[in-house]
Amino acid sequence: MQSQSADPLAARSAETETETQLDAILRVCASLTAPKPLEALLDNLLSEARTILPSDAAALYLADDAGLHLVCSQNDSARHDIRAALLNREVLGRPGGQNADPADPVASHVAQTGQPLNIVDVHTLGDDIPYRPLPDHPLLGTHRLVSILAAPMIDRNGKTTGVLELINRRDTNNEVVPFSSRDEQTLASLCAVAAVSVRNARLRDLLSHSHLDTILRLASAAEFRDGDTGEHIRRMSCYCEAVARAMGRTPEWCRTLLFASPMHDVGKLAIPDAVLKKPGPLTPDERVTMQQHTVLGAKLLAGSNNEILSMAERIALGHHERWDGRGYPHGLAGPEINEEARIAAIADVFDALTNERIYKPAFGFQEAFKLIAAESGRHFDPVVLDAFMSAQEEIESIYEAYRPT
Ligand SMILES: [Fe+2]
Ligand SMILES: [Fe+2]
Repeated sequence: MQSQSADPLAARSAETETETQLDAILRVCASLTAPKPLEALLDNLLSEARTILPSDAAALYLADDAGLHLVCSQNDSARHDIRAALLNREVLGRPGGQNADPADPVASHVAQTGQPLNIVDVHTLGDDIPYRPLPDHPLLGTHRLVSILAAPMIDRNGKTTGVLELINRRDTNNEVVPFSSRDEQTLASLCAVAAVSVRNARLRDLLSHSHLDTILRLASAAEFRDGDTGEHIRRMSCYCEAVARAMGRTPEWCRTLLFASPMHDVGKLAIPDAVLKKPGPLTPDERVTMQQHTVLGAKLLAGSNNEILSMAERIALGHHERWDGRGYPHGLAGPEINEEARIAAIADVFDALTNERIYKPAFGFQEAFKLIAAESGRHFDPVVLDAFMSAQEEIESIYEAYRPT
């Protein structure tokens, strides 16, 4: 290695790189400490790590009592996060995330020892090395695995709460090179900030989750009266969030929708049993009474300063309106219907189709998708419907996670 005095240009270049990395770390500190939902934070963290230390791929693992879980990963061509799995496991208290992941021995080793690992070239590791990585690392696609840098995220009690792993460092000529000792320091700084930010985000999420739990229980009361289980509103609210995200709405708006949409049928609490639980077809008068659940629900939720309850009020009132104006209670058409109600309408009908009712069998996932698509411009807003179609993969994973038994 050349000394700095022997090559002033190289020394200047190294200084510039250090300054750039320092600037980037300061920027990351500011960005990571701003309150944001956990999933947005994790995605942001990986992007920043790969900007500061250019590399082919990155992965982030979080630890809990069950072990280490891959929660977010990125490479050149794909970003993957298991938002739905996190939601299932952490928000809705259901299994659905990945279990402790023994497929990455490097991350497991770092989590166990609490020490970073800098592997210059995985091909030079002996067969007896316990953390020997798999040569066809799933994150790498067509790239050949060479160098790895992984560091622990350690909380203030000295407990390892996660592992951040970077794969194949790229230099300024885009050649794969080993991670340097300065890279180790940079990643350690990043992990220190990340550990605090992730902890704060998890605490904030915990608070939000207890809020959601309360809302789900209240909304379930209406569902139980209707003979439904609480599963309908869980699935339906997750579908709503997936569609809103596919429409490019902000994470905050999507989250508000996730919390607000379960209340769409809360007005059924005020519908008499004789109508709500009538086994046969309703008379015209009874149908009018039943349709009042929209107006009654909106009244129940009205007058709050809370954004979740305000949105819930709009959804309760508008979720049976139709794009073509043939819905109820007001026969609004097109953009007269608020957007959140247009999203909820699709999610609500789709879930009703995929579930058995006294008067009909359950349609299969693909069949229900086709039936929904056929209603573009009639029952449903074509733009929202396009977003629903584009989110098919995520919707299917929610459907599978809460599959009706
Ligand atoms: Fe309804
Ligand atoms: Fe519903």
